[in-house]
Amino acid sequence: MAGEIPVIAIDGPTASGKGTVAGRVAERLGWNLLDSGSIYRMVALSAFKRGVEVSDEAALVPLAAGLDARFEQGAILLDGEDVSVAVRREETGNAASRLAAHPRVREALLERQRAFLQAPGLVADGRDMGSVVFPHAPLKIFLTASVEARADRRYKQLIAKGLPANIDSLLHDLRERDARDTHRAVAPLRPCEDAVLLDTTRMSIDEAVRFVLDLAHDRGVA
Ligand code: CDP
Repeated sequence: MAGEIPVIAIDGPTASGKGTVAGRVAERLGWNLLDSGSIYRMVALSAFKRGVEVSDEAALVPLAAGLDARFEQGAILLDGEDVSVAVRREETGNAASRLAAHPRVREALLERQRAFLQAPGLVADGRDMGSVVFPHAPLKIFLTASVEARADRRYKQLIAKGLPANIDSLLHDLRERDARDTHRAVAPLRPCEDAVLLDTTRMSIDEAVRFVLDLAHDRGVA
């Protein structure tokens, strides 16, 4: 039964390192990975492409429902086109954060996300993984780090991809995105009651990965 397949839900604010940690935990366990943020980001790219405003919920719903999104061998494909780099751009993330505030857009993406739940297990990365998409996940982690540490990580990530980055505007954007994600009415950014908080400000990625794996092991989840 699908309900018996274990899920580790990892959430946290923007640029907290949750994507990297989730990816490595999935790799170490040999489990599937749901990078839900990329799905929201692809809806944003699809909206850009079709000239749909991120404020236009009615137009976004069919676009989200019919999204031709595929994850293949590390590449992210939208309408068959490799968008692995475009999807990481800050403007894409900002637009994703705006359109993710529409309840009907979130609903249109629900089943697509739940379909990732396949044996032997799933590591699910994103805002509402533990609260809405997989509320029965036996392990929920809320990863945080100071806004300065997150801006620094995002800066390095963008530069490494050859994308433009400026530390001051990143700090400003992160603060704005935190506020928007925290205060929105649907799926706001906040730890679930049963989530384990992990502050990674002074932690390396490897240490954070080890923490999650140890916890999963201690709890008999993996
Ligand atoms: O790490 P960062 O927050 O920049 O981004 P992400 O995980 O790639 O997601 C991009 C945006 O999509 C976030 O800022 C969220 O507002 C939204 N999102 C969401 O609402 N629900 C999810 N499950 C995943 C992402």
